[in-house]
Amino acid sequence: MLKIEGLNVFYGAIQALNDVTLEVNEGEVVSIIGSNGAGKSTLLRTISGLVRPRTGSITFEGQEITTVSPDRIVQMGISQSPEGRRIFTNMSVHENLQLGAFTRRDSEVESDMNKFLDRFPRVRERLNQNAGTMSGGEQQMLAICRALMSRPRLLLLDEPSMGLAPNLVTEIFNVINYLHSEGVTILLVEQNAVRALEVADRAYVLETGNIVLSDTGKALLTNPKVKEAYLGG
Ligand SMILES: Nc1ncnc2c1ncn2[C@@H]1O[C@H](COP(=O)(O)OP(=O)(O)O)[C@@H](O)[C@H]1O
Ligand SMILES: [Mg+2]
Repeated sequence: MLKIEGLNVFYGAIQALNDVTLEVNEGEVVSIIGSNGAGKSTLLRTISGLVRPRTGSITFEGQEITTVSPDRIVQMGISQSPEGRRIFTNMSVHENLQLGAFTRRDSEVESDMNKFLDRFPRVRERLNQNAGTMSGGEQQMLAICRALMSRPRLLLLDEPSMGLAPNLVTEIFNVINYLHSEGVTILLVEQNAVRALEVADRAYVLETGNIVLSDTGKALLTNPKVKEAYLGG
């Protein structure tokens, strides 16, 4: 579904991604684990067209998207819940969700919203309140819901569990499992390596811009190198 080949991304003189090659098959949850600064967000931002690679290619469902505009990429079926959630805190929850559907011209936006809100009752309860009044966990749910409003076939999640209390982290990963069961393809980046590997069909380890390992989530959970570096020994 998504194929990335030989991706090189720079910020000025700093190389953030070095010859990154990976793929995501339809229906999979694929996790990228890596420490702070490894290049995880850069990878997702490049897929979304927000950062342009110097070289390399990204194809989605057979179409090259490396030079396609970010809004068109959303329209093609890729949406992202960004790091730090980036919800619009001075707008209502309902308005945030409507913005998630900004590329759609069909008449099913409200009915889709209702469907998602059945699964996210805590978001529904807050529908007419300012999004800024929500807790961190609720804001994360809203960010995921907003990303779903464009009807993505590929959902990019950037550190959805960051800064959340343990019970909310569990809730977020339950949502990821639910979306997986609904057939949404997911590319997840996380510093929470244990959870990210548990939920993943396959995963990649990103270290200072380089993919250094890839395997099934299960195999990486017991890989000695991964245990040593990312799972606390
Ligand atoms: N806008 C930017 N300008 C310059 N350097 C950046 C920018 N964004 C990220 N970087 C650098 O690129 C590298 C990868 O960052 P990032 O993709 O945010 O990593 P991660 O999400 O894994 O923490 C880091 O060295 C970071 O400092
Ligand atoms: Mg990041």
